[in-house]
Amino acid sequence: MSPALSTKEDGPGSPASGGLRHPLSPEEIRNVNTRYHDVAAGHYDSKWGIDFGELGHDQVLSKVRKVLGAGGRGLGPFARSLEIGSGTGYFTLNLLRAGVIEEATCSDISPGMLSALNANAERLGLAVRTVPADAEHLPFAEESFDLVLGHAVLHHIPDLARAFSEFERVLVPGGTVLFAGEPSRYGDRLARVPKRAASTVAPLWRRVIGAGPAPPAEGGAPDAALEGVVDVHAFAPGELSAFARGAGLSDVRVIGEELLANWFGWTNRTLEATADPNEVPWAWRWYAYRGYLALQQLDRRLLESRLPPAIFYNLMLSARKPV
Ligand SMILES: C[S@@+](CC[C@H](N)C(=O)[O-])C[C@H]1O[C@@H](n2cnc3c(N)ncnc32)[C@H](O)[C@@H]1O
Repeated sequence: MSPALSTKEDGPGSPASGGLRHPLSPEEIRNVNTRYHDVAAGHYDSKWGIDFGELGHDQVLSKVRKVLGAGGRGLGPFARSLEIGSGTGYFTLNLLRAGVIEEATCSDISPGMLSALNANAERLGLAVRTVPADAEHLPFAEESFDLVLGHAVLHHIPDLARAFSEFERVLVPGGTVLFAGEPSRYGDRLARVPKRAASTVAPLWRRVIGAGPAPPAEGGAPDAALEGVVDVHAFAPGELSAFARGAGLSDVRVIGEELLANWFGWTNRTLEATADPNEVPWAWRWYAYRGYLALQQLDRRLLESRLPPAIFYNLMLSARKPV
């Protein structure tokens, strides 16, 4: 499961809202985020299924359409965009290719992520400016951008009030704010049910598909130790919108995304994590992937407009800087 398909699980003891509840200080959080993502950058796209072809295009466009369409804002095009925590370029590069943004700036606290983004942009023949930056201290002049956006980044930022006031500062009057892929606190709690159920039935599942147990980890990936502390927040929809309103933004909307797709995805991811990856049949992977996409459609067509945002796994926010 990827940020493309879902945001990551929160680390132990990390979910916080409003005020910061985290074992590390804000400075330490920024530091571990830089180190963790610098190391993660090398295998990030393959680990999280980041795609810059048709699939990535459709995923990103569908999210942007949901959140901007819901606010009646349409799909731009936006002349100058700034992405916060852009990672390897999942959102910006796909939006550039789709013509939704015209001139792109990508910022991230991790220089390693920006190097991976530059390599992706070069491979795709796309022009993009990359600037290492902490979301709370943006090195850009007032009113420099028409769109400030991000995906799966707000939950890493210690001082969101400060970050949102920076987003507001660098936007032109009438400019748009768009964030997607933020973990919902209640959605995350609900998703623990299928995860627990999957852990219980995992031995039986492995027998059915003919796979042995996962081999013991040899010291773990170099970034694994930090994974549990890079996440800072999981949000209730009202908390997320309060940060935007507090910064003086207007037309604030928060919507939820993915319910059944996430339960299905986490069930399969939990099962697969217990098996030797070389022995998980291709047919199973195909079923898990196609099933996830089918349930995403069901969520989108049937549930997202009818159920309260809080119960979905991911939250999306759109807002505007008043003219
Ligand atoms: C889960 S990744 C998402 C990356 C990308 N947006 C995507 O969807 O694939 C979170 C990103 O936020 C960045 N990040 C974490 N804390 C940050 C901060 N305080 N300021 C700016 N970027 C930050 C990380 O370096 C990382 O690239």
